[in-house]
Parts: sequence; C-alpha cells; structure tokens
Amino acid sequence: MMHPHDYIEDSNPSDNPAFSDILDKAVSRRTVLKGGAGLTAAAMFGSLPLLGNTAFAKSATNLARPTSLKFKAVPHYTGNEMMVAEGYTAKAFLHLGEPLVDGIDAFRDDRQHSGESFMYRMGDNHDGMHFFGMTGGKYDANQSNRGLLAMNHEYTNDNLHPMGMYTQEDANAAPIYRKKRLAMDVRRDANAHGVSVVELVRKDNGQFELVKNSRFNKRYTSSTMVNIAGVASGNEQLQTKYDKKGKTIWGINNQCGAGMSPWGAYLTTEENFLNVFARGEDKAIIGSQADIALARYGLKENSTGGGYLWHTADDKDGVVADEFSRWDISARGKSAHDDYRNAFNAFGYIVEIDPFNPQAKAVKRTSLGRFAHENCAFAPPVAGKPVVFYMGDDARGEYIYKFVSKALWSPKDIGKGLKAGDKYMNEGTLYVAVFNADGTGEWRRLAMDTVKHKDYNFKDQADIVIHARLAADALGATKMDRPEWVSVSPITGEVYVTLTNNSKRSVDATDTVNPRSYNDKGNQHGHIIRWHEQNGDHTATRFNWDVYLFAAPNDLTAQNLSNLTADNDLSSPDGLYFDPRGVLWIQTDDGAYTKTTNCMLLAALPNRVGDGKIVTTTTGKNTPVGMMASEDTLKRFFVGPKGCEVTGITMTADLKTMFINIQHPGEDHPDVAWGAVAGGKVPRSATVMIAKNDGGVILGESF
Ligand code: FEO
Ligand code: CA
Ligand code: CA
Ligand code: CA
Repeated sequence: MMHPHDYIEDSNPSDNPAFSDILDKAVSRRTVLKGGAGLTAAAMFGSLPLLGNTAFAKSATNLARPTSLKFKAVPHYTGNEMMVAEGYTAKAFLHLGEPLVDGIDAFRDDRQHSGESFMYRMGDNHDGMHFFGMTGGKYDANQSNRGLLAMNHEYTNDNLHPMGMYTQEDANAAPIYRKKRLAMDVRRDANAHGVSVVELVRKDNGQFELVKNSRFNKRYTSSTMVNIAGVASGNEQLQTKYDKKGKTIWGINNQCGAGMSPWGAYLTTEENFLNVFARGEDKAIIGSQADIALARYGLKENSTGGGYLWHTADDKDGVVADEFSRWDISARGKSAHDDYRNAFNAFGYIVEIDPFNPQAKAVKRTSLGRFAHENCAFAPPVAGKPVVFYMGDDARGEYIYKFVSKALWSPKDIGKGLKAGDKYMNEGTLYVAVFNADGTGEWRRLAMDTVKHKDYNFKDQADIVIHARLAADALGATKMDRPEWVSVSPITGEVYVTLTNNSKRSVDATDTVNPRSYNDKGNQHGHIIRWHEQNGDHTATRFNWDVYLFAAPNDLTAQNLSNLTADNDLSSPDGLYFDPRGVLWIQTDDGAYTKTTNCMLLAALPNRVGDGKIVTTTTGKNTPVGMMASEDTLKRFFVGPKGCEVTGITMTADLKTMFINIQHPGEDHPDVAWGAVAGGKVPRSATVMIAKNDGGVILGESF
C-alpha cells in the first residue's frame, strides 16, 4: 500500500559519480585497508581515552565503554509486542494524541478530535528526540531525574483521521486541484507534525512520567510561526505574502532525525517537506532559473510532492484561505509578495528550538543549507576551535554535508540557547563530501568563488544555501545511497553515516560499479560508512573512509559481507547514535527483511577506519569492509512490534534510562490484534523507555 509519505525523492539528475563507483575503484587499486581484521574492539581500544565533550554529562563520560556485549541477543520476532534483552524492561508512553495539558480530552479510537486540539497533544509518527536534564528550570547536563524530552513528529498516517485521508473529487478541476481534502483533516495533519517538548520526571520505580500542565510543555507544528536566521534570512527568495521581509514563515514540516547542539538546544530537521507542497503551471511567470531550482527539489510544474494535498481544503464556502493555499506555490499574484511562490524555499532547514524558553519561536538556520535533512550531529567541540556539524540529505543519490562555524567554541555558551545558536550557526562555511577513488575524501566549499553551475546562475551565498543541492552538483559531490543519520564517535572522533538502501539501483546499472545490487532490487539492505578527518581535525578538508558495516540477512550469503548471524543481522539501518561512552546504537527502518523480523535496535562496539579487510561481492567487485561483526561487537538488543520503524534515541545522563520511538506500529497490518505498545484498539506511535530491571547502567558491567 502506498502512503502519502512513501514517495522517496529521486531528483538528482547530475552525472556526479555515485559512491559505489568510487568504492570499487578505491579497492581495486588496493590503496586502503591493511590489517586489523581479527582484533577485538577491546584489544584496539583498551586504553584509549574519550575525546573531551563538554556537552555530555560528566557522569556519563566517566563511564567506560563495555569491552564486549554480554547480553543475550533478542531473536528475530514478527509479533505485535516489544522484545527487549533479558534483564531489561520496555514500557510505552507518550502515545500519539496524549494530552499535554488539562482541558484536552483523552485520545479516543474514533479519532474525532479537532485539528486545533493537536496543538496540545503529542503529535504523530514520533522520530528523533533528545532528553535535556533540567534543574531549577535550566539545562543541566548531569541531571537524570527530571528533564525536557524534545521529540520530532515526522508525518501523519491515514489512521489519524476518522475517515482516513478522505478526499472529494472534482473531475473538472485542474490536475493538482482535482482531489480535495477537508479543512478539519488538514488542520489535524498540520498540527500533528512538528515537535513536542514535554517535561518528564522519574518516579521511585525508575520509570518516567509526563508532567502534565508543565509550563515547558509545548508543540511546534506546521501551523506555528517560525523565525528565519542565517545568510538567507530576508532574501528575496524567502519573501512571501505571509512576510514580505522574508524573515519569518508559517510552520515547520517533516521533522525526522534530531540532535542537540553543544550549547544545549534542540536541533530538529525538515526532511520530506516536498510531500505537502503542490505547484501548478507557472514556468512562464517565474522563469527557467526558478523552474530548474524547483525541479532539483522535486517540484515540477503541475505536480504535487505527495498525497497530502493540504492546499486543497476550503476554509468555508469554497474559499481556500491562506492557511491552506500557502502549500500551493503556483505563482498567481502580481509578485512574490502577493502569493506563496517562495514558501517552498522556506522549508528544508535545520531548525533550532530552545526547550527551556517556551516563549521563543523556533529558528530556521539557513546557513547550514536547504535539503531533505535527516539529522544534525556535532563533532566533539574544542574550546577555541570552530563548531562542526555533519548532515545527510536523505533522497536517492544525494549528498553528505558539513558546516564549520566562524565563531570559535567557548564552553561558557552552554545554556545560552538561541543566542548561542545565532553565534555558531548563522555564519560559517558549508561543505559537501567527495569520496575519492583512492580511499581518501575531500570536503568542497559551497561558495560564490567555487560554484559554477552549467545551467543555474547563483546570485549570492543566500542563493547557494537555498539551493545547496545545485551548488553541490556543480562541485562534483558524490551521490550516496540515501544518507540517513550521522553520529560521531566520542572515542575516535570518526563520523558514521547510515546509507539506508537504494531500491532503484538495478543490477544492470551497477554491473561494473555498485557491489551491492541484487535480484534487480538494488542496494536492498543498506550499509554504514565512516570516515576519519585528517589529523582528527573536524575542520580539515580531507579525510579517509571505509565501510563500517554491510547490512544483510544472515542467510543471504551473497550479500552478507560483514559476517552477520541470526543474532545480529539487520536490514536498512537508519537511526544511529553513539552514546557518551562510545556504544553505537543502530536502528532499522526496513521493508526488505520484515517477513523474518520486525524493525529493531542493535548495540555495537565499532573500532576504527581501516580495521577490516576486502571482500568480493556477487558482481565480482572487491569491496572494503570494516572488522567482521561478532557477538562481542554487534548484537540485537530490541525488536519492535509489527509494521513499525524503530527510530529516535536518547539516554539520561546516568545511562539508566534509554528512550526510543516506535513509529507507525501496525502500518499495513490492520488485521492483527494489538499488543502493549498500541495504547488502544488502533495502534499508535509511542515513546518507549527501556531500563535495566536492577536499576543499573544500560550495558553496565554488572550484566
Ligand atoms: Fe525520515 Fe530519512 O528518514
Ligand atoms: Ca530516518
Ligand atoms: Ca528511513
Ligand atoms: Ca520513517
């Protein structure tokens, strides 16, 4: 079944090389990866200190990483409950629709709630999140018993509404207006997107509960007002009828992965914002340059980006109010100040929220570039050095970026919220990654003196960040297989990125290039890459890379290049999180191996770039892969209920509670009886807290 959000963008027509081409060349030249195979992580890491990271709690960074994974692996599972490793308990809470304040009715299975009420309820499809310890109403990285959980709500499903994604048809209307949605349904959709900030307190039994009516409880949605900061703020391409100055916009959309900033703010993202926009026939008005730019972000003339159709609802009596028409970017007015032709340009950014300042608006940080952002991960900050952020663009054949701040890091800025964000995120240098054939890599700068596009004439740096994809095309950036989450090891400083899959890469297309295409289904199971910045300096413009792990079913020998077993095999890695000790947590968003097992969370103890060997793929390619997995270094910790994705992960400072999200349990399985996560007869997205039964540190040495 196709859902409104299922469209995976494929808008990169550039002839830049794909990573797979380079991978093969790199290995055939045998210039990378010697030795290392066979050493255990413990042997490699025994005495390495953690890199300093002032943003993490002192208590957590003092904890040693386990030398091996001792828990018993959770087996494959296809039922409707949650399975967590023995000795641990997993409990769902904060379900879709849960009221955050008094006066809002409890969520009901009939789903007849007003759209407006979702401004005061948990949204839908929980995704990335971060737990901020709080003492006395202020950020406290060492506090584990009370805190603010900031969480993304990525999109909405059909079952949010009493009648599903109901549409009325008008056969005489122009194509993008033919199907119409109800105003109340669109309001429910828009307000169930975005971010929730909720105050949580730990009870005596170790479990957390929502502090209802907390002054910090707040929703940021596709209907809230947002500031636009950074180099593109005020630019003519961001000016709309809503704000002719181009400094504010109406809404955030499609919050996917998440992270925190070194100063303790929440960094959310805008990923598949394309899904909610529509565009009619307007090329003659806006011109070919604007048309090229829109197409590069997936929105051609006479098209809708997905099935949401928010632009079609009537406010009353057939009048489509701005509330809805703003999602239709057709140029209809006299100028950009009379319509929403530029609204699309105001989405696709890293968005900063200060959870401790509920009065403040969210801020779109344009200098970090506009694309389908998955998450944003910072390198361990060093006093007196720039702050560095890594980001992936999750669409087929898109790129990996990094942003290096102009301002130099001062730990005194911890707790300064959006002011610190202004300091570190508005000015800096944006780079895109090029993976070279010889196992090295290069960061290329997106700037007026470096970018010369054959079809698109950049006007200024604002134009470059708004159209970062076009600028990156011109720089020869390397096309990747859907970059999802980025995370930086606190032990090695190496940067890891999940490349979830690429189903469109045919065997024919990869005959001489891509080692991972199989049965005409392309790179079906995904892999995880990593790199080491030159001299361990995150501002460097050179790096060395390898593939940390190839995901695959254990019995699919031809694709199982990391020696996975039934205890640690996985497909489509997506969420990725190094905890402060250096344990790597891997989550899956899979559709290719779900007959065998539901999506999952695994724990891993990775080593470093160059620790593996070369393997030969089914297409005869010699491919570098990291140290083979073993039960000491990679193990399944949790499996979610049928139909779900396991995504979003954060831990309390004492590492005794882990929060993960169960997104869309039961999707495409309306037929099954529902288990503990569901929260009612119709399964709902929820947060799950995981704790050890003895109250100890998760993966602590006592177990
Ligand atoms: Fe929202 Fe790329 O996952
Ligand atoms: Ca994801
Ligand atoms: Ca995904
Ligand atoms: Ca998802």
